[in-house]
Amino acid sequence: MPDNYPAVNNNTNILAIESSCDETAAAVISNDHVLSNIVASQAIHQYYGGVIPELASRAHQQKIIPVVNEALQKSGLKPSDLDAIAFTRGPGLMGALLVGVSFAKAFALALDLPLIEVNHMQAHVLAHFIRKRENENRFPKFPFLCLTVSGGHTQIVLVKDYLEMEVIGQTLDDAAGEAFDKAAKILGLPYPGGPLIDKYAKEGNPKAFPFPIPNIPGLDFSFSGLKTSFLYFIRDAKAKDETFIEKNKADICASIQHTIVDILLRKVKKASEETGITHIAIAGGVSANSGLRAAFLGMQEKAGWNVFIPPFEYCTDNAAMIAIAGYYKFLRKDFAGQDITPLARMNF
Ligand code: KG4
Ligand code: ZN
Repeated sequence: MPDNYPAVNNNTNILAIESSCDETAAAVISNDHVLSNIVASQAIHQYYGGVIPELASRAHQQKIIPVVNEALQKSGLKPSDLDAIAFTRGPGLMGALLVGVSFAKAFALALDLPLIEVNHMQAHVLAHFIRKRENENRFPKFPFLCLTVSGGHTQIVLVKDYLEMEVIGQTLDDAAGEAFDKAAKILGLPYPGGPLIDKYAKEGNPKAFPFPIPNIPGLDFSFSGLKTSFLYFIRDAKAKDETFIEKNKADICASIQHTIVDILLRKVKKASEETGITHIAIAGGVSANSGLRAAFLGMQEKAGWNVFIPPFEYCTDNAAMIAIAGYYKFLRKDFAGQDITPLARMNF
């Protein structure tokens, strides 16, 4: 329990719903300890090379009740044991969010429970405060920096407190996850390509094919130039040898991954130098990337950073992170009304 919030005598049990993109997820948390965390991924998007919003909404509609049922069953709790319902309000796809928000509102109304709205990007950061073991005490100390890297966002967040965060750097165009996914698409890999690039990169040489690092002022990022130079590089190499990708897949993947990680790491180093902050966290789907994890962990030795990386299951979209964010809002009694609506765009 954080010492700057009022004490709560009993366990606080929260059911959380996440439906912002292509994962239908539900989780149950008891204080900061996860009792269940169910994620149903939507395979349908693989056929289209990206998330199709209308199909995502339909799949959420089909999956939400089975996913919530399973989360409740696995938690061992009954609906009457719950103290609140938390849900992702945004940012995300409007139709997808509507399914989760409407479900949460109806469930809260039926059970006469308070509702807690959660910002998906804040939740990615707060995943660091999920307690994995009873005696766990390694958490980032405020203020810390969090690199939040997902399919839709790339941000350096200055985290001042559980619910007080400021974006101090962000992408001007594509997100880091998009850079991975678009590079994968150019290589003919299915969506989402990030995990596949990671897999092939493990066997390759990261220095085999150098790509340019963009020169963007301040703490902001840009990935669109990298995408274009990668596209032309592959096009030209294929023109000379049709089998170029097949022959060099591991080296190509290792090289593009190395470049994306380098772009991210350089800016976080800069942010650390400018702020003097050395507690550094990574969050979001791309923080599942093994190259990124290794590069950041390496900074513990090289620069004396304290690096925090969530377990895989809390990196990509999940509802446990919505639940822990809900828990900290519950402690503040920060509840939403039944008139709450989803927001496709949502600032901190
Ligand atoms: O946070 P997330 O699950 O969903 C969004 O909110 O966007 O992030 C999904 C992104 C996708 O772009 C996916 O390719 C990327 O995270 N991703 C990875 C890895 N695992 C997921 N990118 C690189 N390496 C990975 N291992
Ligand atoms: Zn996300």
